[in-house]
Amino acid sequence: MDMNGWRAPSQERPRHVTILGSTGSVGQSTVDLIGRDPDCYCVEALVAGNSVEALAEQARRLRARLAVVANPKRYGALKEALAGTAIEVAAGPAAVVEAAARPAEWVMAAVVGFAGLESVLVAARRGAMVALANKESLVCAGRLLIEAIEQSGGVLLPVDSEHNAIFQVLEPRHRHAIDRLILTASGGPFRRWSLADMAEATPEQALAHPNWDMGAKISIDSATMMNKGLELIEAHLLFGLPAEQVEIVVHPQSVIHSMVAYRDGSVLAQLGTPDMRVPITHALGWPSRIDGPAARLDFATLSALTFEQPDSSRFPSLRLAREALVTGGFAPIVMNATNEAAVAAFLARRIGFLDIAAIVEDVMAGWEKLAAPVESLQEVQSADLEARHRTEEACQSRALNN
Ligand SMILES: NC(=O)c1ccc[n+]([C@@H]2O[C@H](COP(=O)([O-])OP(=O)(O)OC[C@H]3O[C@@H](n4cnc5c(N)ncnc54)[C@H](OP(=O)(O)O)[C@@H]3O)[C@@H](O)[C@H]2O)c1
Repeated sequence: MDMNGWRAPSQERPRHVTILGSTGSVGQSTVDLIGRDPDCYCVEALVAGNSVEALAEQARRLRARLAVVANPKRYGALKEALAGTAIEVAAGPAAVVEAAARPAEWVMAAVVGFAGLESVLVAARRGAMVALANKESLVCAGRLLIEAIEQSGGVLLPVDSEHNAIFQVLEPRHRHAIDRLILTASGGPFRRWSLADMAEATPEQALAHPNWDMGAKISIDSATMMNKGLELIEAHLLFGLPAEQVEIVVHPQSVIHSMVAYRDGSVLAQLGTPDMRVPITHALGWPSRIDGPAARLDFATLSALTFEQPDSSRFPSLRLAREALVTGGFAPIVMNATNEAAVAAFLARRIGFLDIAAIVEDVMAGWEKLAAPVESLQEVQSADLEARHRTEEACQSRALNN
């Protein structure tokens, strides 16, 4: 038995895998790794939101049994793209959940945002090894997801590079001796920008991450540092430490992916090049270690590794996430939904960059019974929906005032 109920599963070979969100940034990296070693994997299902051409190409290349597109209007196009193959085709949100229910031993959860929640829960409930990139699911339904894993005997393998780093260096038998977890943050593209410049930032500038090549939503979250806020809550849920024992430090080179500090003064870190294939390879091989293609760290050419305090006056999302974690109840759900909707509004040029965190703060402040306990998935879903409505109203009123 491992920490948080993690236990070593049988090592099925070839490993039967499903990739939820296969056409995205994390999904494509996972497809790349599996495609390099096809005899080691049998692909049960691939799932995308809309990108039918990319999905069909992946399904052919990996000889998937099933390809699913979440948008039901894209069913005909997917069917056509896979005509003449034996690959099953399905479409719509229910088909996405059914894909997660199929018997793959290992499931990559790489759908972006709250939309990934139901499929992650289904994979967790049937006892799969869930490689979790989709942090929003855990933030919104942490207790439900962890209970599902514990009851089914499944495993949650953190794929976020920071949590994967901690998973690699945290010694479960010395859990009582942990002083704190240290999550590293790149600081994003606006690390050195003034508030006045950030107020004028365009989506293109916010999307230009200095170290990581990622999907649009997480790139904007990195620019506001809400990504680190979501990761703070994720770390608390995965490793069971309170907010005050999770520190965030800005490390612009993104070489140290995170650390565990022990009370004897030792700090254990995991290092690597900033390439998501490192944590994905770790999760894909777990509990063994397998070869990976990411570039090796070359210490002879590494320049200085530097560290600084995050600035929560320019990046209020960090404070909001800490407050949401301490408040508990509906707070993380409301924060996440408002942030997702506000990020979409910023990308559509309907609100400014600084409006994102301001709207999250307003919607959270106006929520009745923010700390009330969350009892069911339905409660999570209706709070998510209501927070999106309130965000839309807030976006409209800001657009009118500007
Ligand atoms: N990118 C990274 O380096 C990174 C690092 C750590 C953690 N993460 C986390 O991993 C998750 C994915 O991030 P990403 O950057 O890979 O995102 P992304 O590039 O935007 O990809 C998202 C994937 O989800 C699919 N999708 C979107 N809506 C869907 C729906 N309603 N149902 C089913 N599939 C849907 C997309 O399909 P289409 O292509 O058809 O739209 C795509 O395959 C996020 O939670 C993120 O926070 C990402």
